[in-house]
Amino acid sequence: MDIGIIGSGNIGGTAAKLFAAAGHRVAVSNSRGPETLKELVEEIGPNARAATVGEAAEFGEVVMEAIPFGLYESLPAGKLAGKIFITASNYYPGRDGEVEHGGLASSELVARHLPGARVVKAFNTIYYERLRDNGRPDAPVEEREAIFVAGDDEEAKGVVSRLVEEVGFAPVDTGTLAGSRKQEPGSPVYNVAMTPKEARETLAGIG
Ligand SMILES: NC(=O)c1ccc[n+]([C@@H]2O[C@H](COP(=O)([O-])OP(=O)(O)OC[C@H]3O[C@@H](n4cnc5c(N)ncnc54)[C@H](OP(=O)(O)O)[C@@H]3O)[C@@H](O)[C@H]2O)c1
Repeated sequence: MDIGIIGSGNIGGTAAKLFAAAGHRVAVSNSRGPETLKELVEEIGPNARAATVGEAAEFGEVVMEAIPFGLYESLPAGKLAGKIFITASNYYPGRDGEVEHGGLASSELVARHLPGARVVKAFNTIYYERLRDNGRPDAPVEEREAIFVAGDDEEAKGVVSRLVEEVGFAPVDTGTLAGSRKQEPGSPVYNVAMTPKEARETLAGIG
């Protein structure tokens, strides 16, 4: 599968490495331009190329953003309609400034900015070092570390859940984008290593 990455730092760069190692082709992009991504591309190997943000958006059947959430309105909406779009960013007011959210989950704001994109919230709860180190593709899914997945489009959520499994983690469904608040900063499942069973029990506890 072709996967575009918008924001190729700690989390986007780590995910790009894992997707490429699983056999996918990745186009990585950042705010400074493709020439600043040569080192990352060399590290990832032949499945990777450097791109502009627009090129990464066009390249991917699946596109993932991992940028500071406060910049979500810079995502190229015109190029993302119809794409399966993973939003991995988290809203931290101290870092991102005050974002007028009207009570919506951050993934819902992203979806509102991207008409026609098939938005799935995922890869936002796991610290990048655990994403880098804890994948166990050969282990039974129930024994792996959970990665939380939310979305309104079941088919898109299925595609992203399979990617989670391919890189060695266990997808755990938190429901719709509105329900993705359950996997936002402050939630008891946020940035905590847990098995899918523990994850489901914890989610049940928060209703
Ligand atoms: N760190 C984690 O473990 C972790 C885990 C899960 C989720 N997250 C979330 O993921 C997001 C990124 O975190 P991070 O730690 O990976 O940050 P990071 O290491 O600082 O990387 C951010 C990346 O986004 C790029 N970027 C910034 N503004 C952009 C824009 N307008 N368009 C395209 N690319 C842009 C940066 O490019 P330049 O370097 O060229 O500016 C950089 O490649 C945050 O929202 C964070 O909350 C982080």
